[in-house]
Amino acid sequence: MSGMFGEVRQVSTHKSVEWYTPSWIFEALDITFDLDPASPHDMESAVPALKKYTVFDDGLNSPWSGRVWLNPPYGPETPKWMERMVNHGNGIALVFSRTDARWCQIAMQFADAMLFVRGRIEFVPGRENQHKKSRCGAGTVLFAFGNECVLALKKMESFGVFIPRAVND
Ligand SMILES: C[S@@+](CC[C@H](N)C(=O)[O-])C[C@H]1O[C@@H](n2cnc3c(N)ncnc32)[C@H](O)[C@@H]1O
Repeated sequence: MSGMFGEVRQVSTHKSVEWYTPSWIFEALDITFDLDPASPHDMESAVPALKKYTVFDDGLNSPWSGRVWLNPPYGPETPKWMERMVNHGNGIALVFSRTDARWCQIAMQFADAMLFVRGRIEFVPGRENQHKKSRCGAGTVLFAFGNECVLALKKMESFGVFIPRAVND
């Protein structure tokens, strides 16, 4: 991939992207979303979103509106999803904290706040991973875009290090 987000090779310890966000995160954020553009097609996730796109809709290339929850398919597609999120500017993204990757560097520059989660999150297995245990190869960071999402993310500050965007003079 080329462009502002550059070429990224992200290595994951999982071949499958069917690992879902645990419900405690949404309870802690205490906010609902208008759209989840990357949602499982064969089971209900815990994401409190009014509209959900699955792989059959191709959420990356479908219209986005309102407040978006994004836990994108990780791997080589992550930069494209994060580029879309940065440009959309309204929502919360949960991704591996690959702070050296170009897409992560750009998200850190443009997000209104971020939270580096302490420890490793146990993700919820999709159907094909039912008997596997969640073993993340990296920590997690959540990026907030827009004031309402910053306030929601701040509610999670006891779960890690919350960093609001610096205010310029
Ligand atoms: C890491 S999971 C996150 C699921 C859910 N958003 C959550 O937070 O629990 C990413 C999901 O995106 C789906 N997906 C993959 N490519 C997609 C696409 N082009 N459009 C929409 N969904 C897609 C996968 O099937 C998978 O269920």
